[in-house]
Amino acid sequence: MKEGQPSTTAEAVAFWRALEQHYPADARVLDDPWAHHFLTRYSRTLLKLNRSPWLISRSDRTLGLGTMAYTLLRHRWMDLTFERASGPFEQVLILGAGYDMRAFRLNFGDAQIFEIDHPATGGRKARKVAALGRPDPVHRISVDFSTENLSHALERAGFQSGRRSWFFWEGVSMYLPEAAVRSTLSVLSSWGCEGVLDLFAPPEHPGLAGFYRRTLPKVVEIIGEPVDFMIRPEHGDAFARELGFRVQALATHRDLSLLSPRPAAPNENGWLMHLVPT
Ligand SMILES: C[S@@+](CC[C@H](N)C(=O)[O-])C[C@H]1O[C@@H](n2cnc3c(N)ncnc32)[C@H](O)[C@@H]1O
Repeated sequence: MKEGQPSTTAEAVAFWRALEQHYPADARVLDDPWAHHFLTRYSRTLLKLNRSPWLISRSDRTLGLGTMAYTLLRHRWMDLTFERASGPFEQVLILGAGYDMRAFRLNFGDAQIFEIDHPATGGRKARKVAALGRPDPVHRISVDFSTENLSHALERAGFQSGRRSWFFWEGVSMYLPEAAVRSTLSVLSSWGCEGVLDLFAPPEHPGLAGFYRRTLPKVVEIIGEPVDFMIRPEHGDAFARELGFRVQALATHRDLSLLSPRPAAPNENGWLMHLVPT
């Protein structure tokens, strides 16, 4: 994260969700009528110019290695996993929330909703949501996962242990050091939270394809959010167990592609887990 600046990757994924709304409803991976509110002037112009998402999908598949498809489908998988989980939940935590609008898109019933983010991104989100002029159901908490203890922040915000709680941790683990990923998950299991997260596996392709796969994350490094922690899905079970969870479900790019209403080739390195505290 660049000091004092809102996350650029949070805007990138909001841009893809906004772009997705150009598809007819029955061909869309997801509905997010709010995503465009979070775009800067530059991305709004890009959104207006790109009336052909087909062209974007083609370039995502070739140049982007399916990163956009992966991002949209992981959002969908997490929505569905929450909706199918045996609720009701009394507290919902959205960690590294960025411009995620689940608080408005999904039905959380009477649950208290907490969004946790780096201060600069969370602050910009709060201002944009206020400008919508709608009641905002979210308690917002500022935390830097790399340096701060999540437990203290949750206590400060009035989060209560012993209540049925769900977390979404989407598109964040790969930007953090392993110690920060481990400590965040340990706190979540110790507070009895069930939930979902996604992770990145290191690219293993040989030759030129592998070189390109290893180089693409460097682009993210240029915008100040370098990819750090990576782990393969085969190690998911052991990793979860060490941190006080069992794996209820695991999804790779193959599972994600089945959720798409149109042919999709999501990035092969992303994968997800539904975790239940042991
Ligand atoms: C790719 S965005 C994902 C945003 C959102 N979860 C979504 O899927 O739309 C990454 C998010 O992680 C947050 N983030 C990155 N590093 C962080 C850190 N050290 N502490 C807290 N939040 C962090 C950023 O502010 C940003 O909101």
